[in-house]
Amino acid sequence: MPEVKQVEGKNVEVNSQPKSSAIRNEEKEIVVKIKRFSPDKGEWWQEYKLKVDRFTQMTEVLRRIKTEQDPSLSYRAACHMAVCGSCGMKINGAPRLACKTLAIELTKEYNSNEITLEPMDLYPRVKDLVVDLDDFYERMYKVKPRLYPSEEILEGKAEHRLVPEDQRELWKFAQCIWCGLCVSSCPSVRNDAEFLGPAAHAKGYRFLADPRDTITEERMKILVDSSWRCTYCYQCFNVCPRDIEPVTTIKKTRAWSSKMKDKTKVIETGEKHINAIADTIRKSGKLLEAEVYLRTYGLVQAMSDMLYMLKSGRMKYTLIKEVPVKDLNDIEKVMKGDEQ
Ligand code: SF4
Ligand code: SF4
Ligand code: FES
Repeated sequence: MPEVKQVEGKNVEVNSQPKSSAIRNEEKEIVVKIKRFSPDKGEWWQEYKLKVDRFTQMTEVLRRIKTEQDPSLSYRAACHMAVCGSCGMKINGAPRLACKTLAIELTKEYNSNEITLEPMDLYPRVKDLVVDLDDFYERMYKVKPRLYPSEEILEGKAEHRLVPEDQRELWKFAQCIWCGLCVSSCPSVRNDAEFLGPAAHAKGYRFLADPRDTITEERMKILVDSSWRCTYCYQCFNVCPRDIEPVTTIKKTRAWSSKMKDKTKVIETGEKHINAIADTIRKSGKLLEAEVYLRTYGLVQAMSDMLYMLKSGRMKYTLIKEVPVKDLNDIEKVMKGDEQ
């Protein structure tokens, strides 16, 4: 039973059991396999062994390897506290910040004392775990990542305070540390040169939705078309070490499409697609893929794709008979709630 104490008039449970000294003094020998690279020698894997305790971050692992075993190893890290964004890499194959990852926790998570470290995907390698982030920074600067207030405010003649509701809307999206992890793992960045990428969208939306900003039209032109190029795979949501949810900013930016005067083909197609999905679910309780496709891309494109499906033997999948949904009232309620 936990001990109960009075703190400021309230009963508070106090853990009277001291942590077992086995956990407190836990130490493990780990094997770190690093994917090394140099422009002269190419790529190779190298192994290092060292002891870690329950406080050892992966940046500390790298620091000790470099200082105690191999000064030729290159990596980036500065703050060691998930603020500077410089230690992004793949740890056991997953994009993570090294300083936010404890070595012992990893051995438990993967049930292995072996840990692999690789540079982030997508970016060109410079040396070992160091990558060239120019492409990432170019994406970020394309969205003009600063506030453009009015002349009056710049001249100090007026003040424009954020109301708490606006601050709440923007705060989360302003916390990006420019680590590049989300972009390195985004499939749409790889497949579509016109897509700005998740981090740039998070940054762009943070200013698009800021009522103090004065270049809204320009921001919409930069952001809205690109927002329809995301495939909603949610990978950026999963990997962001600051829980920024870039995909949420993309969804919110799409909602600005209705304010666009000159819509691009991509925006028009995206809007048709979303409306067709909503209509078929309302009508039948289901997402009717064939109807959605026809309404999104038109008859000519649909016919040509049908020919391809006939040839490849996939037509049978489109002819599966759906079981109709009987009560559509609950679905209508959910749809209304989602639109509000
Ligand atoms: S949800 Fe969109 S932006 Fe995020 S990783 Fe997937 S495709 Fe990229
Ligand atoms: S959105 Fe998250 S993952 Fe992407 S660059 Fe910013 S902090 Fe890193
Ligand atoms: S060292 Fe700064 S974010 Fe990891």
